Amino acid sequence: MIKAIITGHSSGLGAALAQTLLARGIPVLGLSRRANTDLSASRLTQHAIDLSAAGALESWLAGPCLADFVKDADTALLINNAGQLQPVAPCGVQALACIATAIQLNLTAPLLLANAFVARTAGCRERRIVHISSGAARNPYAGWSVYGATKAGLDQHARAVAQERIPGLRIASLAPGVVDTPMQGEVRASDPADFPQHARFAALKQDGQLTPPAEAARRLVEHLLGERFGEWVDGDLRSLPAA
Ligand SMILES: NC(=O)c1ccc[n+]([C@@H]2O[C@H](COP(=O)([O-])OP(=O)(O)OC[C@H]3O[C@@H](n4cnc5c(N)ncnc54)[C@H](OP(=O)(O)O)[C@@H]3O)[C@@H](O)[C@H]2O)c1
Repeated sequence: MIKAIITGHSSGLGAALAQTLLARGIPVLGLSRRANTDLSASRLTQHAIDLSAAGALESWLAGPCLADFVKDADTALLINNAGQLQPVAPCGVQALACIATAIQLNLTAPLLLANAFVARTAGCRERRIVHISSGAARNPYAGWSVYGATKAGLDQHARAVAQERIPGLRIASLAPGVVDTPMQGEVRASDPADFPQHARFAALKQDGQLTPPAEAARRLVEHLLGERFGEWVDGDLRSLPAA
């Protein structure tokens, strides 16, 4: 049996990923602060957790939930999707607490989860981890220095873990493209003085160029479940083969 753990399943891309996996009959364990009330499948387990709160994830990982969820899985999937864009501001005027929260949520939590996931899935024939990265990991965007740094950290984590040749483990850190989610609304709501590329992202929405979450989720799930997953340890989902 295939089983999937997804962070940030309550909104945007994560909600679409959860829906896509559940529609394929794959049980999902979702970790977000909010429950996803649109997903009513019996195969969905939800745990409310603030992944940016220091110690919260460590306490959860010390409990039995993760091991219990994967114990009957033949193939286990971990999708590190939860993330935040803030702080959107130049270095020097970023809110201190926001820097710390972004690093905890976007980088520390995925690395803690990956470590626990590898430890608890030793009995699985296959285990696959995907970090949801961003083009901002590879291209510098003024105003997004913290966000870009955290996503670049995910990319490098995946590259190093891939080198470890852990039995049954495949890992990748993939940028999903520009997806029409609440986070893109946040991009457009940001102050152009803080984010000089504001007009470009606003135009993408206006011109209908954003990828619908369901489409990005379909591509990601097909690639994640495909034979070739792990061949491209970092990359852009739009340029990868589906299977
Ligand atoms: N949209 C894009 O164009 C785009 C492009 C490149 C990369 N990405 C990446 O794709 C991923 C999903 O983004 P999205 O666009 O779908 O954003 P979104 O709609 O804002 O969703 C973010 C998800 O992360 C969860 N989350 C946020 N803070 C959290 C916290 N403190 N603890 C636990 N969960 C938390 C949210 O759940 P709760 O609020 O319920 O906690 C929500 O489910 C992110 O990693 C983002 O960086 C998005």
